[in-house]
Amino acid sequence: MSDVVVAGAYGGPEVLSVIDEAVAEPGPGQVRIAVRAAGVNPFDQKVYSGVFGTDPANLPLRLGAEAAGVVIAVGAQASGPAGPVEVGDEVIAYRASGAYAAELVVPASSVVPKPAGLSWEEAGGLMAAGATAVHVLEAIGVGKDDAVLIHGAAGGVGLMAVQLAVARGATVLATASPAKHDLLRDLGAIPIAYGPGLADRVRAAAPEGVHAAADLVGTDEAVDVSVELVADRSRIATIAGFARGAQAGIKLLGGSPGADPGTDVRAAARLQLTEAVEAGRLRVLIAGSYPLREAAAAHRQIMTGHTSGKIVLLP
Ligand SMILES: NC(=O)c1ccc[n+]([C@@H]2O[C@H](COP(=O)([O-])OP(=O)(O)OC[C@H]3O[C@@H](n4cnc5c(N)ncnc54)[C@H](OP(=O)(O)O)[C@@H]3O)[C@@H](O)[C@H]2O)c1
Repeated sequence: MSDVVVAGAYGGPEVLSVIDEAVAEPGPGQVRIAVRAAGVNPFDQKVYSGVFGTDPANLPLRLGAEAAGVVIAVGAQASGPAGPVEVGDEVIAYRASGAYAAELVVPASSVVPKPAGLSWEEAGGLMAAGATAVHVLEAIGVGKDDAVLIHGAAGGVGLMAVQLAVARGATVLATASPAKHDLLRDLGAIPIAYGPGLADRVRAAAPEGVHAAADLVGTDEAVDVSVELVADRSRIATIAGFARGAQAGIKLLGGSPGADPGTDVRAAARLQLTEAVEAGRLRVLIAGSYPLREAAAAHRQIMTGHTSGKIVLLP
């Protein structure tokens, strides 16, 4: 049996509870993991709040997409992107449907080795935001000669994108509230306050122009300022401002209708991310960690929209 977080109805964090559920034996190509940390992402909240529909037939909903833990059982032919998976392996699972749980059965193809230097919290929060950041930087082709504008740079995805763009040698213009500017400067970016006058502040910080832009927050301002400053719309992407982004003719990335899900890029990103962590090019910044039973509190924190880094649940 395993503790599992479920949403018993559509609504706010109050609909979340923990139930005790049987865990299946892993079948061929599957592994069972004792979860040490599960990443919390805004997507999880969108699911039970009803953004993607409120079909009662889908209740109760399991939540979560990423986890780190120890393999406790394997089925036949359990092999992942880094090779065979064995009992006792410390791993990160992504995508891992229903990851808010103490134990989890996932396809072995979802599992990569956890870098030894990464804590459980860091490992639990690496993949969903990290793979999204890799997808964004690939989609807008960020390279060493670019100045790239990253909106929402202090968020879970933003902090990954900033570090990965800096590692590519780009000049990174990073929007955030002033309280986050020291952190962004430490990561190698040029911090810029969002809000009225943003385009002028970016021009002043990058007098030679901006080559690419990523909206990682979903505001009209992020899309509009990107379009104003970047000449080539194929070098602007959004992961959250889909209506405005579609009107502007920029790239839409993720699971929304009409967006590029980047399935292969995100799957390939997993080993790139663990390698970047091992090489010291990427840190996972933790904004908060909560016991699994306090998932609702974790969600109240992420719903502020102003956390910096990853929130994780600890079974
Ligand atoms: N399409 C996809 O594949 C995909 C994947 C992952 C996430 N997402 C979506 O992308 C968004 C970000 O995800 P996340 O995990 O990074 O969320 P998050 O960690 O909750 O992001 C919070 C950050 O947003 C910043 N922010 C808030 N208002 C802002 C504004 N007006 N301008 C610039 N920055 C602002 C905050 O900075 P301050 O505290 O400084 O205000 C805070 O650091 C969410 O909507 C999420 O659902 C989409």
